Amino acid sequence: MLQNQVTTPSVLAGDLTAQDADRLVQRATETSLNDGGLQTSELLKQALDCDPTHHDAQVLQERLHQMCVPRWHFPMLADQARNRAYARAIAAKVRPGDVVLDIGCGAGLTAMLAARAGAKHVYTCEQQPLIADVARRVIADNGLSEKITVLSKWSHDIVIGTDMPEPADVVISEIVDTVLLGEGALATLTHAMAALAKPGARALPERGVLQAQVVHSDALVQQWRPAAAEGFDLRAFQALSQMAQLTPNDFAASDLRALGPVTDLFSFDFTQPSLKPGRVTADLACHHTGQAHAVMVSFQMVLAPGISVSNDLEATGHWGRTAFLLDQPLCVAPGARLRLTAQHDAAHLSLRVNDLYPAMQDAQTAKIWQSAIWSEGAAAPPLAALAPVSAGAGQGAAYPH
Ligand SMILES: C[S@@+](CC[C@H](N)C(=O)[O-])C[C@H]1O[C@@H](n2cnc3c(N)ncnc32)[C@H](O)[C@@H]1O
Repeated sequence: MLQNQVTTPSVLAGDLTAQDADRLVQRATETSLNDGGLQTSELLKQALDCDPTHHDAQVLQERLHQMCVPRWHFPMLADQARNRAYARAIAAKVRPGDVVLDIGCGAGLTAMLAARAGAKHVYTCEQQPLIADVARRVIADNGLSEKITVLSKWSHDIVIGTDMPEPADVVISEIVDTVLLGEGALATLTHAMAALAKPGARALPERGVLQAQVVHSDALVQQWRPAAAEGFDLRAFQALSQMAQLTPNDFAASDLRALGPVTDLFSFDFTQPSLKPGRVTADLACHHTGQAHAVMVSFQMVLAPGISVSNDLEATGHWGRTAFLLDQPLCVAPGARLRLTAQHDAAHLSLRVNDLYPAMQDAQTAKIWQSAIWSEGAAAPPLAALAPVSAGAGQGAAYPH
């Protein structure tokens, strides 16, 4: 009896027994997730319609949601600064009559903002079927189903003439991670601007910049590079922790202090994106005396002229932070520079600190550094870290980032 009832949940509530709920849950556990969890979700919903307190159904439903719907969706949707910036930028950039492609529908917020801005029609794609399915409901709840088509697929699989009647005038996206590149934004937008948009189409965001700065944070080191526990020496294990991925809560608890200004590493034009890899050597200036523990990487993303979002030190909001940890703290003073090499392959960022300038033999600077060490109550070891390290001859091992 159950086989034919998966797609007709409305008839189930009155008919099913607790035993049927057990069977539905059993089928849910046996169903492939190749469809992105759609059928499993439906079976679990039916089981819970039948028995709302079914323990296994509740546990499995939660597990499915955790697996298919990244948890950052919720703080992201609650990030008012982000939402406001997108709302203002979309209102400024979408013109009445535009065909809009919104890449990455999520709950449908950016698509609905584009519809509200007067788009002729919004096509929004979402690679996660469960999310796409619920987004359709959100869009219907807001009376916008006629204006917005949800395509349950990757943007790369959209076919003009089949999924969209014509290419887009505007391409909207919010598919960046803490260092812009990790969610494949460059590959996605390179394809979309070439294959799914009209020549000269507008992109929102239009530009992004990756930047770095030297930071101090004892808490960061304590959390990410514990040296000892219960009297045991754990320093060898530190080699496995070179990059700290901070949630907004971690970030708030880490109390990162800037020892210098941000320096731009890479700039990306999202209206004409490219997959060309990049490599840059940059000197990060230090304007304050203190112990440097990490290089924090952040982004500035220009959505429309004068409207940006960022995850720099001052920003609030849902984006996490990425900090490249120094192998050992470096004492720096105004005038010092940390030379690093940053590289990207359009999807990943790597970063290595090569050198600290000026060199230790500069007596004046050494004095300032020494006073910095004493004033921070640090023990002798950081002095060793003052020796300038060149990238070659094996010395770079002290600066693995
Ligand atoms: C960060 S959310 C943004 C959602 C919504 N646009 C907003 O700003 O509120 C990005 C969503 O895009 C989806 N996504 C990322 N790249 C995609 C692509 N190339 N094609 C389709 N969906 C994509 C992800 O699954 C995720 O749900």
